Amino acid sequence: MRVLSLLAGTIIVSHLASVPVVIGLRQKPLSGAHPWTSGQDELEQWIRSQDTYSRARILSNIAPFANDPSAMPGAVCASPSRSHPDYYYAWTRDSALVMNELLSWMEHNSSMSGLQRTVEDYVSFTRHLQGLKGLKYGLAEAKFHMDGRPFTKSWCNGQTDGPAIRGYTLTRYARYLMQRGRDVEHLYGLITTDLDYVSEVWMQNWHCDIWEESRGLHFYTLMAQRRALTEGARLARRLGDSAAASAYEREVGLMDRRLGDFWDERAGHVMTTLEWSGGLGSKLSQLDAQVLLASLHSSMDDGVYTVESREMLSTALRLLRVFEPLYPVNQVLSAEINRAVVPVGVALGRYPEDVYNGVGTSRGNPWSLVTSALAEFHYRLAIEYAKRGSVRASDELLELIQWTRRRYRGQVEFKGLLRYLLGVGDLYMARVYLHTARDHTMYEQWDRHSGYGQGAIHLTWSYAAHTAASRARSQLVDLIASEV
Ligand code: NOJ
Ligand code: NOJ
Repeated sequence: MRVLSLLAGTIIVSHLASVPVVIGLRQKPLSGAHPWTSGQDELEQWIRSQDTYSRARILSNIAPFANDPSAMPGAVCASPSRSHPDYYYAWTRDSALVMNELLSWMEHNSSMSGLQRTVEDYVSFTRHLQGLKGLKYGLAEAKFHMDGRPFTKSWCNGQTDGPAIRGYTLTRYARYLMQRGRDVEHLYGLITTDLDYVSEVWMQNWHCDIWEESRGLHFYTLMAQRRALTEGARLARRLGDSAAASAYEREVGLMDRRLGDFWDERAGHVMTTLEWSGGLGSKLSQLDAQVLLASLHSSMDDGVYTVESREMLSTALRLLRVFEPLYPVNQVLSAEINRAVVPVGVALGRYPEDVYNGVGTSRGNPWSLVTSALAEFHYRLAIEYAKRGSVRASDELLELIQWTRRRYRGQVEFKGLLRYLLGVGDLYMARVYLHTARDHTMYEQWDRHSGYGQGAIHLTWSYAAHTAASRARSQLVDLIASEV
């Protein structure tokens, strides 16, 4: 028997290899302050001000624009940067993820109903894009000009996560409207256009992955497609379209079987790509942070690759282990916020073999949006445990906790698992703080040596990853307060 004491007298997790012990959180009310001794208020203040700034930035990256009247309303630019790199395009993936973020704001705060105008613009822009003719990859074209023209130069095209994310985002918007007694006629056709396409192509192996580099069957893409068809089927049933609902459900059944193949027990992590069919051949480890993003963006309440699943806990640990020694900036263990010293966690990149430096190729760097996602992962893990009131102390969870303890011994006090995970999430938030400009400007990447912003400036997705993590954190803080 292995006994891991988080803090003598608070929670003792004991564990036999085959008999996971359940820790009752509710029976042992959590008390005391944040696990760190100081700096929490300062970090929290930064998270809040970065959140405010990020929201404003996200909105200012969505057309209409005063300085570019040709941009179609509702088009989201990945970044305003027009050269080195040129990211001034509407990527289907980035745009849909950002719209999904806007929907979260609307759902959490009804006074933000002004945002609906922006979402409606996006709906109109989607109608325009879906109507374009003669595109080689049709709905799976990766990106478009901001004025709605197709992008015709060569690209790793055929990114089928795009229509899937857009499909579940519009489905979510339809639910939002229906809850308010509003009509969704104008959305349903757009949704089924995306979902019918996804149903038709998901099992093929030519898809380009979200990093726009390799072809095959990708975990991220498939998870997004599964969410789209599952939620789309529910919507179709509600609207009385049972033929569409049954067709989508049938595909989901097949997807579920395929998804099981991505877990590699021996490697201890989820594989990012199966049936590789071209593009980058150097990703030999198959260990990729997009797997973590897949769980955050697309897992549902059914245990399939959810954040607390053993597959995700184990993958998160493997990512930490591989990225910690890879980037020199990870030797920095603390940061100063308004004279308070806070511990900082590991900066994560896309995958260890990455050579994209944000402008060209040399060596890969840590990414802002991926590190924010790691913070969100820990907050959501704790939220899940808090909701259940108990935790299965699996091998994978214990290993993740132990790994973090090794690195931050003495810097994190253990006052219960929820607080512990809040503290761990905060380590990664502090990492993002460390590399974010003091005026809140975010980039796509951070130079692996100097830590300065690198690649596309004002990357919309970097801001959206921060607002998502910050929302999960607030939710966790509220849950912890209600536990005491
Ligand atoms: C290669 C990068 O790895 C990819 O992510 C990027 O989208 C393209 N180049 C275009 O910049
Ligand atoms: C490169 C990233 O790899 C890709 O996922 C993203 O869509 C584009 N940049 C635009 O942000």
